[in-house]
Amino acid sequence: MASNSPTLSAQDRAKRAAGEAAAALVTDGMRLGLGTGSTTAFALEAIGRRVREEGLRVAGVPTSFAAERLARQHGLPLLSLADLPLGPDENGPALHLALDGADEVSPALDLIKGRGAAHTREKVVAALADRFVVLADPSKEVERLGASMPVPVEVLPMAEPSVSREIRRLGGEPALRMGEKKDGPVVTDQGLWVIDAAFASGIDDPAALAAALSETPGVLDHGLFLGMATDVLIGEADGSTRHRSR
Ligand code: A5P
Repeated sequence: MASNSPTLSAQDRAKRAAGEAAAALVTDGMRLGLGTGSTTAFALEAIGRRVREEGLRVAGVPTSFAAERLARQHGLPLLSLADLPLGPDENGPALHLALDGADEVSPALDLIKGRGAAHTREKVVAALADRFVVLADPSKEVERLGASMPVPVEVLPMAEPSVSREIRRLGGEPALRMGEKKDGPVVTDQGLWVIDAAFASGIDDPAALAAALSETPGVLDHGLFLGMATDVLIGEADGSTRHRSR
């Protein structure tokens, strides 16, 4: 939805506040991580406006086909990992700032991501950033990870049965994510599938679950982002933002 719409819901106004506060953190010459989702979309729009109106020079690595399309739409130059300073003699940060949304944010700033099935690339990009700023509305704040959202797990299609068995062994309930307006499973930007692992009363030990999922053969990556976010900007419907940092 366009951010200048007079009919923005309270939740979208909160997302816009977070997105615009994030765009204000961007300074000239930054290499950015460009996240995926409806909250980050407001940030990309606002950064695009600054590029047009202030001549801000930035470029960013998109975390999905969706982010790439939005970045192009808003006139943001794109980078791939091959363009970043990643060599052994290079000291500067690969990315100065990564901006992204989240599905859940815990009191310790741990996250569940991947509602849009982009969590694998999102994690690669966030890990390269000096600062990983998460944009959210208040509905994303939880006391306990997993209480309201499943953990997305990107898998090789052939391994879906064995990964599902492992998720059950870990106390979760697996559900293969199915397409809308497409028959069959959701296919990610990598051509893989997503299993949503639900934990009815939340996740007791997110670090242990993250390690177990990462070690499961056939898993590309999961949506637990632990110890990665440096800052969280929570937007409010009145246009204000709260800043939480580690
Ligand atoms: C994409 O796969 C997700 O990780 C999103 O970043 C997350 O779902 C947040 O999206 P919204 O900003 O649309 O809630």
